[in-house]
Amino acid sequence: MPKFETIKGVLFDLDGVITDTSVYHEQAWHALADQLQIDWQPQFAEQLKGVSREASLAVLLNATGHPDAYSAEQKAQFATEKNDRYLALLQQLSPASIAPGMTAFLTELKAQDYRIGLASASKNAPFVLERLGLSDYFQARVDPTTLHKGKPDPEIFSRCAELLGLQPAECLGIEDAQAGIQAINASGAVSVGIGAKDVLAAAQIRFETTAELTLANIRQQLK
Ligand code: G6P
Ligand code: MG
Repeated sequence: MPKFETIKGVLFDLDGVITDTSVYHEQAWHALADQLQIDWQPQFAEQLKGVSREASLAVLLNATGHPDAYSAEQKAQFATEKNDRYLALLQQLSPASIAPGMTAFLTELKAQDYRIGLASASKNAPFVLERLGLSDYFQARVDPTTLHKGKPDPEIFSRCAELLGLQPAECLGIEDAQAGIQAINASGAVSVGIGAKDVLAAAQIRFETTAELTLANIRQQLK
């Protein structure tokens, strides 16, 4: 584990870390599954976290046992329907939806000159940050449409560090998803998991909730 003093930047996942939009993604996928008469399996919730829209649809269609039954046009239509439902749910988003302690943590990072980057697979990320009123904290954001591979591939975290002018090893990556923690670990950044131990066993540091995210608590765990 690197020393706390080597950390110069923080790479943030968005959904499920900065705000609880992961439940809206889940609701929208669940509704699509119902529409397509796909049995919603409890493990879908964790499996779909951190995974792109297209790859998430593939997970659902694979569960039917005949994923090739749909044309490319139909698949594009399903992805659009899911996104429309998700966007409708985002209408309720406001600064009150920011995860506990997150504004204080971002403020602390900024005050201490840490570089702050966004490593979200969501094409809706700019809109979500805008609704939360947090856009100005982020010096760099990875555009997920430019990536070759999604999480658990490390590309998004390596790119985010690069955009901040840092090596991954100089960064913390903060994630709520299994695929995200794998991606951070593979990039060489220090993985900080937010959530339950059984789900995030691979995280190098872990907190139950974002309320515990402070530089002092991180320093303690990096000893
Ligand atoms: C994040 C979320 C996923 C979501 C993905 C793509 O990684 O954790 O649940 O599927 O972004 O989001 P989008 O808004 O582009 O459909
Ligand atoms: Mg997430």
